[in-house]
Amino acid sequence: MKKLLHIIATPRGDDSRTLKVSQAFLEALSKKNPDCKIDELNVATDTLPSLTLKMIDGKYVLLGGKELNEKQKEAWNPIERHIERFLSADGYLISTPMWNFGIPYPLKQYIDLIIQPKYLFRYTEKGVEGLVKNRKMTVITSRGGDYSPESPFRAYDFEEPYLRAIFGFVGITDITFINAQPMDAMGPEIQNEKIEEAKGLARKTADTL
Ligand SMILES: Cc1cc2nc3c(=O)[nH]c(=O)nc-3n(C[C@H](O)[C@H](O)[C@H](O)COP(=O)(O)O)c2cc1C
Repeated sequence: MKKLLHIIATPRGDDSRTLKVSQAFLEALSKKNPDCKIDELNVATDTLPSLTLKMIDGKYVLLGGKELNEKQKEAWNPIERHIERFLSADGYLISTPMWNFGIPYPLKQYIDLIIQPKYLFRYTEKGVEGLVKNRKMTVITSRGGDYSPESPFRAYDFEEPYLRAIFGFVGITDITFINAQPMDAMGPEIQNEKIEEAKGLARKTADTL
């Protein structure tokens, strides 16, 4: 891998549990692959462009199989810049907490910006074709509660299924999830134990890239 895009969706910096796990992943990756560039985008602290009416009009033009006119192209500049940055990476790491059973809203804003027809997917006679091929994604999450397969709260995890669905839609189907949980519900001892467990999995995953 030459370039990893690290998309961060927590504003908590050094206090972030998610980023503690991600740090272990990145250290293992740079040991294994010292030439891999890391491009860091924090969607929770950087200001992302909001979707304007002109941008949304442009989306419907593309969905209709037509080209953007000059004015629409101009409005689409910020979207294209983010899409270029996304597509210039050949691997992805998403670091995100669970917020209200799903993803934090800045990550959703980012997804709404970049998942665009003609750029990341297209409709063909055979159905939808994802255009982001041959790229692996690792998603590191942390959650206050426990949503593991054996937990009664499993069905409340809308984070992992959603991220698998939306990135699978654009062709990224090789996705590894590392979920550190529970971070808040069972006290600090379990929290530390689960962070260490997740760090171990993160190092192993980085070694396979
Ligand atoms: C706005 C907000 C919503 C949250 N919603 C949930 C939730 O639905 N389920 C859960 O288990 N934890 C929830 N949490 C707790 C976080 O997922 C948990 O503390 C996580 O470890 C924070 O990650 P971070 O330290 O990397 O920011 C929420 C936290 C915040 C700030």
